[in-house]
Order: sequence, then C-alpha cells, then structure tokens
Amino acid sequence: MKALIVLVLCLQLHRISAAERCQLHHKGENRQFPEDFAFGVSTAAYQIEGGWNVDGKGLSIWDTYTHAHPERILDRTNGDEAAESYHRFEQDLAALKALKVKFYRFSFSWPRLLPNADTTVINQKGIDYYNNIIDKLLANDIEPMVTMFHCDLPEALNKFGGFTNDIIIKYFRFYADFLYKTFGDRVKKWITFNEPFDYCVLGYGRAYFPPLVHSPGVADYLCMDNTLRAHAAAYRSYKAKYFKRQGGKIGITISSRFYYTQRGDKHTIERAMQYSLGWLANPIYSKSGNYPQLVLDDIGNNSLREGLAWSRLPPFSEFWTKIIRGSGDFLGLNYYTSRYAELSQPPIGEVPSWEFDSQLEYTVDEKWKQGNSNWLYCVPQGLEDILKWIRDRYDNVEVFVTENGWSDYGALEDTDRIDFLQAHLQAVLNAINDGCNVTHYSHWSLIDNFEWNMGYTQKYGLYYLNLTSPHKERIAKMSAHYYRTVIESKKYYRY
Ligand code: NOJ
Repeated sequence: MKALIVLVLCLQLHRISAAERCQLHHKGENRQFPEDFAFGVSTAAYQIEGGWNVDGKGLSIWDTYTHAHPERILDRTNGDEAAESYHRFEQDLAALKALKVKFYRFSFSWPRLLPNADTTVINQKGIDYYNNIIDKLLANDIEPMVTMFHCDLPEALNKFGGFTNDIIIKYFRFYADFLYKTFGDRVKKWITFNEPFDYCVLGYGRAYFPPLVHSPGVADYLCMDNTLRAHAAAYRSYKAKYFKRQGGKIGITISSRFYYTQRGDKHTIERAMQYSLGWLANPIYSKSGNYPQLVLDDIGNNSLREGLAWSRLPPFSEFWTKIIRGSGDFLGLNYYTSRYAELSQPPIGEVPSWEFDSQLEYTVDEKWKQGNSNWLYCVPQGLEDILKWIRDRYDNVEVFVTENGWSDYGALEDTDRIDFLQAHLQAVLNAINDGCNVTHYSHWSLIDNFEWNMGYTQKYGLYYLNLTSPHKERIAKMSAHYYRTVIESKKYYRY
C-alpha cells in the first residue's frame, strides 16, 4: 500500500514538474525534421522599425494611438524608436546569420510605402529600405517571407472607417498589386494579413487596440468580413497577373488556440474551434467555403432575437464564396497557447458580442506554466492537436507555423524559453510524423520588441535588446544558441 502511495505521488510530481518545465511527453525516438523543413524567425514593422516620421513615412493608427494615449500603454512607451530596425537592419541581419535561419518573416509598413494608403504618393525611400532588406537576405541565403499587413493600418484609411468600410478591399488590392510589382521578382512567400481576429475583435469590438471602436458583435464581424474579401481579392489578382512570371505562394496568418473540455463533449471543442480558427479558415480552406454553418446559424438566430431584420453575420454571396474559397496556397498559423472551453448557460458577455454568440467560457489548467503575458500558458500539446485538426478539416493544406513564442522579463539565461521552444518543436514533429503537412516553423521573435499595449515590458526575443544603449545592441540569449543548434542539425535536442 505504502509503495502504491509513493508511486502515485511520484507520478503526480512527475506530471507537475513536466508542466512546470513546460514539456511535451515524448512520442517515439524520432527527433529529426525532414530535410526540406524550414526554420525561421518573425518580426513586424511597428514593433521593431522605429523611424515613425522619417523619410516620407505616413502615419499608422499605432502612431496616432500611442501618441494620443500614452496612458494606455503599460510603460507609457511607443514604437517611435523601437529597436530602430529602420536604421539598424545590419544588426538584425547579423543576428539572422548567426541563427542560420532559412527564412525571415517580417512585415512591410503600408504607410511607409504608401503614405496616403493609395498610390497617389509612392515613397521611394520606403521602397529602398525594403529593397535593401530583401537583397541582403537573399545574398545571405535567407528567404524573405513578407507580411503585407501587421496591425499598422494607414491613418489615411482610418479616417473613413478602416476595416469597417468595404472600400478597404479596393485599397488593399492596389497596395498588394504595388507590392507584387515592386518586390515580387524576389519575394516568393506572401502573407496578406496577420491575425485578423485579433485586430478586428480588439480594435473594433472591445476598443482595446486602435482604432478603439466599441462595437462588439457588429464592427468586429464587419472587419473580419472585409479582411477575408480583401485577402481573396489580393490573392486572385496575384494569380491572374503575376503568378506566371513570379511563381510565389500566398496565404494568410490566423491565430488560434486549441480547446479542450472538462465538462463538455467533442461538440464543445468543435464549437470553440469554429468560433476561432474556423471563422477565418473555413471560408478559405474548406471544401464548402463560407463561414462555418454553426456560426452562421447562431448569429442569424441571435440577430433575429435581438430585433434585427438581418444577420450581424450574413453568409457570403455566391460570388464571394467562390472568390474566397481556395484563396490560400498555405495556411499561416500563429499558435501560442490553449484553453479549456465549456458551454455557458446562460451565455456570458455583452449583447451582442463574440462571447455571447459563441456561448462559451474559457479556463486554464493550474498545471500549465504561465509566461510573462497574462494570457500565455505553455500548452505544447495544443499545437500538435491544432495541426491535426487542420489536417482533418482542410484537406491537409500546407501549414506554415508563422509564430510561436514565449514572453519573459528579458534574462539572457532564458531556460524557460528553451523549454517552450523545445516542447513546441516536438509538437510540430509529432504532427509531421502523424501526416500533417507542416513545412515551416517561425519563432516569435528575433529580438525583444514593442509588445503593443504592454510596451516593452514583455520580452519575446531570442536576442536581448539593450533599449537604453545608444547602439541598441542585439545580444544572443541562451535560446538563440539552442535554436541555432536545432537549425543546423534539423534535430531538436532535449535541453
Ligand atoms: C502575435 C502578434 O502577431 C505579434 O505582433 C505579437 O507580438 C505576438 N502575438 C505576441 O503577443
């Protein structure tokens, strides 16, 4: 009996320590990634560039927002200087070379290139800046992977509704056309939008991000609707006009958690997944196209109940369903964390809102280790499971993991980040071994940077950024050395 108690205690302790160290239980002995698997790192323009008002750059909503509302940023900072990558790309390049990454995912600042958002003014200095990045990357055998839009909407567009005005479809199509024409001879991997759910729900639903619109269940849905159409319009024009000559791939990056359930059943998981990943992925990657039926039905019914004569989320017309369906050569996935989901009866949240429509409540497991972001818990199993979910729902579409990362306080001996990285690489490998078509993994982020409303208080970099030094040195953390070893050997190590 005593022995049994000891055994149970040991097992319990083992479980807890695995969670504390943020590990995934090992499956099989294969630690080798396929030969052509590509490792990279990610950044985004507003979070690293600085140079917010130099050389003809126009304003983005993040410039105006951080200037008008310093109190909304935890350390009252902004991206005016950030990592100064606008003036210090050479330092970023040195870090990229040291890591031996195969590709670098970075974003173009739309207002740096087109300060008025349209093609009335084309900023040559902006073109020069990105040309230099692309050329130097290629000269060093690092492939550029470009995000066309990563939160920094031109203020010019915000003046008349931003993502809630469907004229953004036209603006984005012309912006994309300009990008293909100017950079498409060398850029072969394009991501139209980064994390639409986040900039829509936080920017137009909850008024947490700019443009600070509080219109949950309406403007945020409109934003996602227009994003999907703008994405597809840009995809179709590439295929019609540029693909033959340039031969690149285009996708969109969607953020999602995976969901588990304690009290519910598999329908609860399905519901939670359709209200997150499925909302944006179903229209593009499913056979049927359009929004998930479950989501359409809920929101249609709720809208009628609320006294509306139309649904707050109408299905796409036949025309748009066709244009959007199949408009992705790969699915970009940003995966950071997972949740437990349970049905909430009665539904929680404002009426209307995404929370209310989805009828779900989310919790975390106390065993999940927490990072230095209040929403970030280490759940590597979720990455394996979401990849399998994508494989089964969307005909095993090619997946690029475009972001995955861990926040801390900036220590150089970042063993927690190594644990996180190692466990998530294992999750990717497990998924590949189970037939998932994952070909790229990109870690967020190359360097510590401006973490939106959290300012510089949460560090995600493989490289430490000395913010107070005049030279803004990038200093390799222990995780950078670890990642380089993985990249060189295509094998992940137990740390
Ligand atoms: C995803 C976003 O794309 C990126 O901008 C952000 O810094 C990371 N998540 C971490 O929150």
